[in-house]
Amino acid sequence: MRKMKMRRLLSGGLFALVAFGASAMAVAADSLPIGVFDSGIGGLTVLEKLMAHPGLKGERYTYLGDQANMPYGDYAAAGKSAYLRELAIKDALFLISDGYFTDGAAESPQGAKAPAKVVVIACNTATAYGRDAADAVFRCVGARQRVIGVINAGVRSMLRQVGAVQATGPIAVGVLATPGTIASGAYPRTVERECAHQDIKVPVTVFSQGCPGLADAIELGTADADQIARDNLRSLVAQYRKSGVAAPLKAVILGCTH
Ligand code: DGL
Repeated sequence: MRKMKMRRLLSGGLFALVAFGASAMAVAADSLPIGVFDSGIGGLTVLEKLMAHPGLKGERYTYLGDQANMPYGDYAAAGKSAYLRELAIKDALFLISDGYFTDGAAESPQGAKAPAKVVVIACNTATAYGRDAADAVFRCVGARQRVIGVINAGVRSMLRQVGAVQATGPIAVGVLATPGTIASGAYPRTVERECAHQDIKVPVTVFSQGCPGLADAIELGTADADQIARDNLRSLVAQYRKSGVAAPLKAVILGCTH
């Protein structure tokens, strides 16, 4: 029954690549690493913050950058959101597994690794398309690890920084993210949910701007990454001005870890 549910979540049925051991299913021990993944190097910015956090002193980390399948941000436009969800699930399963493969055709893992005690999706796009599905798969296989995404944390931090709880007038904010994250509507949806949750009385309007090519340029270290970021920020501000919305644009979320 569990397997059937999981197969529905994993369209390609490739979960055999991940080895589960009893330790991954059991209550996580404190000494186990925190698992962090992104489509590439972008999530290292999140890892850096985690490592510097005083509350996480002494923690160990396992980082996965799925560079073979990046950019994640382009899958939605190609009609491959289900595949992206599957990638996010497999990334998360890999982190909580206790084995790894060096040969894709092998039946059993070639090496052993420590299973992660919690999974941080350090990728906005993977959070938007795969966090809930990864969480559902964890529950299907009896894994107790939590799956944490970056979008909720980013929205909460933004609302705090613009003083939304104390605000007396409407607020506008911008989001720069991959085309996929923007297409998912995850940011406006999360802002709406958080505003309701925090009982924020003023309207918060979200202006969204997709940044095609930005993650790629950063991954490849090309000089035009800065230019792409600047151009997209300009487009976002132009969109805000054109809208005629009177609320001041208080913040712009960089909703892409790259
Ligand atoms: N780092 C990813 C994010 O935060 C995007 C990179 C990609 O498109 O693969 O959305």
